[in-house]
Amino acid sequence: MNNPPPGFGNSPINTTNTDHKTMPIPHQRITTEFQNRFGESPAFIVRAPGRVNLIGEHTDYNDGFVLPVAIDLFTWIALRPRNDGRVHVHSLDFSQPADFSLGEICHGEGWEEYVRGVAWALQGKGYPLRGWEGVLVSDIPMGAGLSSSAALELSVARAFWAVSRWDWQPTEIALSAKKTENEWLGLQTGIMDQMISANGKDGHALLIDCRDLSSRLVPLPDDTAIVVLDTATRRGLVDSAYNERVSQCKIASNFFGVPALRDVSLKVFEARSGELEPLIQRRARHVITENARTLQAAEAMQAGDAITLGQLMHAGHISLRDDYEVSSEELNLMVNIAQSQPGCFGARMTGGGFGGCAAALVQKQVTPVFAGEVAVIYKKHIGLQPHVYICHPTNGAELVEE
Ligand code: GLA
Repeated sequence: MNNPPPGFGNSPINTTNTDHKTMPIPHQRITTEFQNRFGESPAFIVRAPGRVNLIGEHTDYNDGFVLPVAIDLFTWIALRPRNDGRVHVHSLDFSQPADFSLGEICHGEGWEEYVRGVAWALQGKGYPLRGWEGVLVSDIPMGAGLSSSAALELSVARAFWAVSRWDWQPTEIALSAKKTENEWLGLQTGIMDQMISANGKDGHALLIDCRDLSSRLVPLPDDTAIVVLDTATRRGLVDSAYNERVSQCKIASNFFGVPALRDVSLKVFEARSGELEPLIQRRARHVITENARTLQAAEAMQAGDAITLGQLMHAGHISLRDDYEVSSEELNLMVNIAQSQPGCFGARMTGGGFGGCAAALVQKQVTPVFAGEVAVIYKKHIGLQPHVYICHPTNGAELVEE
């Protein structure tokens, strides 16, 4: 999930930046860092995006539907091939490099585990891998619910692809990245983050069926923007709370005698939910109603109906807050502040929850005012300076320079 080891990504969030394009350009930075370290220009620069999920939260591991957007915050790698089968990567956020041989991949420590795990998963699926060396930098804040770990995995996979050149099938690569999380790192995450970091498209959200992994591009309604509102709060024990939700959903699907909650209709749920223990009933209700909202949201987007999309986003937040219980005081406040601003169609927490970011759908022309107002009001109430990003839907993991 969105939890690479401490120190990954940006330094502590203490500024309001209403347009992250004014931040130092990572492309230039990574080229310079590579040149300083290796004495020449990189052979390749690759990058993979973070994501914001518009709706469809905690539905992916229930074989359900999700509607994420790849955003223009990235993990970048500048690299060149090596001929000795070794991988050697410096992260600008850690003193310890990732360094290992492709001939014997064993477990390492910290952020390096993601690099080793991706190599292990790709090799396991039969991709021939060549070694490489390079420099990595990310502007995706860590633990914020914006999928910094999936971006790390997909950028590493793109780096292997750049030096080895097999057929790049985004969904297959996303599955390898998920295998890294599930089997190498031991996290029970779903497929959403890897799918969108691999398959994102400029200007679009992606409706993903997490059972068969089919997907459909859906355009963002005209004259709207996605604004990501980072509460500047991070929570511990997120992994165990996540795993607990996964187990509770399993109890519910077993009760209904189906492979996953995706298979339970609202009608069946309503007819039998009284037999469930109240807590399991609430968890199941969130997943079942959220799947329905996600499909409706995709239709609303297709019709350019920002009002309905915003209403569905807000209803999704209430369900995550009350039924799934993965929100937080700060997230609820951020959502309420956003919802009450002129030009906001809807807002909700995004990602795994318990801290991190909310996302708002806002009329494009008011976004700078919206961002400024929300930041001021939030800080007044909570005393923390939020970080605000006006995001542009972007492409999935790609080669930027060769
Ligand atoms: C995390 C996981 C995803 C998904 C979301 C909740 O981001 O990595 O697979 O389950 O939480 O929607």
